[in-house]
Order: sequence, then C-alpha cells, then structure tokens
Amino acid sequence: MKKIEDLVEEIVFKDNRIVSFPVELECVGQGRSAAVFKMKNINQVIKVFYPSHQHLAFREAEVYNRLSNRVFFPHLKEVGDGYLIMEYVEGITFYDCLRTGKRITPEMVRKVDEVLTYVRSRGLTPSDIHLRNIMLTRNNEVVLIDVVRFTQPNECQYWPDLKKAYYKFYLRKFFPKRFPKLLIELIILLYRKRLLSI
Ligand SMILES: Nc1ncnc2c1ncn2[C@@H]1O[C@H](COP(=O)(O)OP(=O)(O)OP(=O)(O)O)[C@@H](O)[C@H]1O
Ligand SMILES: [Mg+2]
Repeated sequence: MKKIEDLVEEIVFKDNRIVSFPVELECVGQGRSAAVFKMKNINQVIKVFYPSHQHLAFREAEVYNRLSNRVFFPHLKEVGDGYLIMEYVEGITFYDCLRTGKRITPEMVRKVDEVLTYVRSRGLTPSDIHLRNIMLTRNNEVVLIDVVRFTQPNECQYWPDLKKAYYKFYLRKFFPKRFPKLLIELIILLYRKRLLSI
C-alpha cells in the first residue's frame, strides 16, 4: 500500500482546482481552502489544502485536538504538511439535504446548537457554520466538519441567519424542501454580498 505522503504528493492542483489525483482516492468534497478525498479501502479521508492554504493544516489539527470529541466531530488521525487524515463521515451535508429534499427537522437544528454550545465550552468560537460544514449521518446524528475558523475571536452570523431562515421560511407547510443547485448558489451569493437579508 502506498504511503499517505506519496498519495498526497500525487494530487495535483492548479490554483484551487483539482487537476489529477491517484486512483486509490475518491474526491468526496471541495471547499474554499481544500479538497477532501476518501481512501477507497478504508473509512478515512485526506483533507488536502490548496497550495495557498497549506498553513491551515496544523491550525485545524490543533482545533480538533482542543475539541477532543469523537461524537460531534470526525476523529482526527494524523496531520502532515498541508493535509489532515481523519475519519470519513458517512452522510450528507445540510446543503445536500436541500438539494435532494431530505427533510431537516427541528431536532437536527437543536443538535447543531448543542454542538455549538460544546464548542464554546472548550473556549473556542463557532464560526463558518454554513450548509456544507454541517453533516448528517445515516442515524440522523449531526457532525460538524471544517473547524479551522473556530479560533477566530468573533462568532459569525451564518448559523444564526440560517436558523432564522429555517424557522421563518423552511418550516412553513408549503415551503419547498428541495431546491435546484443553481438557486441555492444564487441565494448564497446574494446573502454573502449582503444583497439579501433574512
Ligand atoms: N470527514 C469527512 N467525511 C466526509 N466528507 C467530508 C469530510 N470532511 C469534509 N468532507 C466533504 O468535503 C467538503 C469540503 O470539506 P471542508 O469543508 O473541510 O473544506 P474547506 O475548504 O475547509 O471548506 P470551506 O469552503 O467551508 O472553507 C465538505 O463540505 C464535505 O462535503
Ligand atoms: Mg467547509
């Protein structure tokens, strides 16, 4: 079996785009700072930061270690130069729920709040809690990923605003539960450009 370092070395990025990656891996997600690959034979992922964001690997590992919780967060196995090895969360993000129509229940929203209370109790700041950073497992448990921004001094508005939109619109009886990707992206874009208030 190839060494992790060799697998990581074989992943080629051009700016923030993946150009190629080894056959032993499957890409399971991408964000603004990294791409995430599942190792085909085991339940682990490698989060590989883009060259411009490599410095975040050790910072994110430190946050996972401070959180030291294997229920609310994926277990961190290893950190290396520009990458993290962690437990694969078998599930879908809240973003995928909106895309596919899987219902997000008030209980799930309450669970996110419970995780955030735990984050604060560890002296960290819940930040960047958006639709793609909240995962739902097969047993409908909530798992948060992408914790690097928990070291920021202030909490961001994403989660309070998402919650507001959830109670104001989503819970309404005839409000759609499934949306085309393009529409979700448009709403996110308008929100981030502050052209949409909730
Ligand atoms: N442990 C995991 N198990 C399964 N899927 C994961 C895991 N970690 C990340 N993913 C998938 O990869 C995507 C990108 O990961 P992540 O959010 O860590 O990247 P990022 O670049 O830091 O994101 P952001 O744009 O929020 O900064 C996630 O939205 C999710 O779909
Ligand atoms: Mg993310």
